Amino acid sequence: MKTPVQNQFAIDVSRIREEARKHITRGPVTPANTSDLDRLIDVLNQVVATEMVCYLRYTQNAIVAQGIDREQVAAMFREHADEELDHFRRVSDRINQLGGSPDMDPGSLVARSHTEYAAPADTDLQGMIRENFVAERIVIETYTEIVRWIGESDPTSRRLIEDVLAEEEEHADELNDLYQPTAADEA
Ligand SMILES: [Fe+2]
Ligand SMILES: [Fe+2]
Repeated sequence: MKTPVQNQFAIDVSRIREEARKHITRGPVTPANTSDLDRLIDVLNQVVATEMVCYLRYTQNAIVAQGIDREQVAAMFREHADEELDHFRRVSDRINQLGGSPDMDPGSLVARSHTEYAAPADTDLQGMIRENFVAERIVIETYTEIVRWIGESDPTSRRLIEDVLAEEEEHADELNDLYQPTAADEA
């Protein structure tokens, strides 16, 4: 019986061998990566900036937090800050693998970041929880869009953003447990 066309796996090994040798300076990037590389590196540099802004916000908040639940909340902020820094490093590494340069210029961080750096004027715990919770909700939305946009073009970059996204959802969930909604919050 004939195999349906869509189930056939066919690759041109001699072309692949030739390309692998010819374009060796492209490192791990082969023609199988069908992403718009310049655009992908740009978008990943937005993620790098976003992660750094989130790292700084959590770290600042952990240091200045005051109040009866200070210990518990500061410990959570520190843990999230560590994970944001890990995201920052992993996405920077990926940009380097793709042949780009991770943009760590502090001068353009805020412009590239999806989230804002809103350190509350006071040391109010609920205000801090709220700002970080909003930031997590922003990155959950923008990273989900990035995952969809990458699609099948670069599975490794997509999986990286998916892994980061899963951790952002955990962060949002932990903040949700400690957030006391106010009358200003919509249902
Ligand atoms: Fe993150
Ligand atoms: Fe996060």
